[in-house]
Amino acid sequence: MKRRPAPAPDAPWSGTGRFRICPSILSADFSRLAEEIADVEAAGADFIHVDVMDGQFVPNLTFGPIVVGGIRKWTRLPLDVHLMIADPLRHLPAFADAGANHLIVHVEAVDDPEAAARAIRARGLRAGLAIKPSTPLDRLARALSQCDTALVMTVEPGAGGQPFLPGSPDRIAAIRRAIDAGGFDCLLGVDGGIDARTAPIAAEAGADSFVAGNSIFHAPDPPAALRAIRASLRGR
Ligand code: DX5
Ligand code: ZN
Repeated sequence: MKRRPAPAPDAPWSGTGRFRICPSILSADFSRLAEEIADVEAAGADFIHVDVMDGQFVPNLTFGPIVVGGIRKWTRLPLDVHLMIADPLRHLPAFADAGANHLIVHVEAVDDPEAAARAIRARGLRAGLAIKPSTPLDRLARALSQCDTALVMTVEPGAGGQPFLPGSPDRIAAIRRAIDAGGFDCLLGVDGGIDARTAPIAAEAGADSFVAGNSIFHAPDPPAALRAIRASLRGR
């Protein structure tokens, strides 16, 4: 199959539509991954979310740059690569070369989140910072000026299929206020337990990008599940 590069990731977020839906392939059927990705792309997915776990930062182990490079050939959508790994910047060149468009690292995994985001941008990628449910929000809020995506984890990272944590809306709202107060061109993403019931709750709190794995790929009809999340946000 021919390589299909994603469009240049340099347009401001503010120039495009409000909500993004980002299917997480963690819950996809890997025996037919290309088809699963094509189906959600056709159904209007905005990004493909790729969860990288190293068995150290989180207990589970998934995949690395080689698999990202394979996925890159199957879609034109930006690849939103969520690194749940220790020492993530060590792997920045490899993920950049593999075709990642957005690289998201955890504020808990780096000494200086702002410097980490700057390093990702310097490599020509959009920079994301993710925060676990129990980490004080300051650690993310202080780095927002260098961030293209702030990813508020709405479950403990490490596995798909967990319920949306009830403390999440307050945390989303606090980051929303910080983004708006600074006037930053930064998407506010949520990741974990997102479906057509919880997406509007997160949107109400201020989220504009929605990662969903289980609710899309474990549904009998993934494109319909994606469209249901989109429909749940209509009119906002
Ligand atoms: C969790 C991952 C998520 C996960 C979300 O550690 O970061 O991206 O795939 O999955 P669901 O939607 O199943 O909670
Ligand atoms: Zn994720």
